[in-house]
Amino acid sequence: MTGSTERVAIVTGASRGIGRAVAEALGQSGHLVVAAARERNAEGTVEAITGAGGRAEVATLDVTDTEAVSDLVGDVVKRLGRVDVLVANAGIARDQLLLRLKREDWDQVLATNLTGVFSCVQAVLRPMVRQRSGRIITISSVVGQMGNAGQANYAASKAGLIGFTKAVAKEVASRGITANVVAPGLIETDMTKALTGDGRDQWESLVPLRRLGSPADVAHAVSFLASDGAAYITGQVVGVNGGMYM
Ligand SMILES: NC(=O)c1ccc[n+]([C@@H]2O[C@H](COP(=O)([O-])OP(=O)(O)OC[C@H]3O[C@@H](n4cnc5c(N)ncnc54)[C@H](OP(=O)(O)O)[C@@H]3O)[C@@H](O)[C@H]2O)c1
Repeated sequence: MTGSTERVAIVTGASRGIGRAVAEALGQSGHLVVAAARERNAEGTVEAITGAGGRAEVATLDVTDTEAVSDLVGDVVKRLGRVDVLVANAGIARDQLLLRLKREDWDQVLATNLTGVFSCVQAVLRPMVRQRSGRIITISSVVGQMGNAGQANYAASKAGLIGFTKAVAKEVASRGITANVVAPGLIETDMTKALTGDGRDQWESLVPLRRLGSPADVAHAVSFLASDGAAYITGQVVGVNGGMYM
């Protein structure tokens, strides 16, 4: 890769939560960050990065729109000359016990969490192969590793990401591209804000480190995987889960 100030990183789902923390961390480590979310929702993230002296631009992207993904990556490469890091973070949950799970909630979760990542990774591969370098980081979940009642759709999508990322890692290792998974445990974001009172206490009791994680906890791991120090790491699943799954 080139000098750190020239690195271009695309982060999906960068408007809030984990994606925002990741975008800010990559901005701090000298990446030019393309912060993507639907409807220019990542403008606040861009302001935070530029306010801290970094470089960033906002992108409107729905990851379920494969053509839009391809257009965004094409535009980034045309204007900025390269794409060094992809953090495929955008994701949703539509929880329900399987007996009651609606087909549309299955489809929506798979379309966003798995097919959306497929589209993003496929789009960045060509420029990364041309550069003979690149870092792909997908955001799975501890639920993809251990399952969770009421999350069959989400668990399937997140487990699928692990197999997907390992396959990609094997396909492109010879081109100097690494692909790794970060699998967060329970992290304090909008996605988990419904957890309160006893439910929250119960979950915390399953975490050896006895607290929910922060978006910054996840961002540190992602930043490391994007850094030169992680050059020899590929096809791995890095759990950021307080010991919830070992
Ligand atoms: N929080 C946790 O405990 C936890 C644990 C394990 C894994 N994860 C995973 O970590 C990732 C981030 O989660 P989070 O907790 O930060 O969630 P969050 O606060 O709900 O944020 C989700 C992000 O995804 C974006 N997004 C959703 N659907 C999208 C679409 N179709 N196209 C583009 N962007 C879309 C949202 O952007 P807009 O709505 O602004 O477009 C938002 O930026 C997800 O993949 C999630 O599954 C979270």
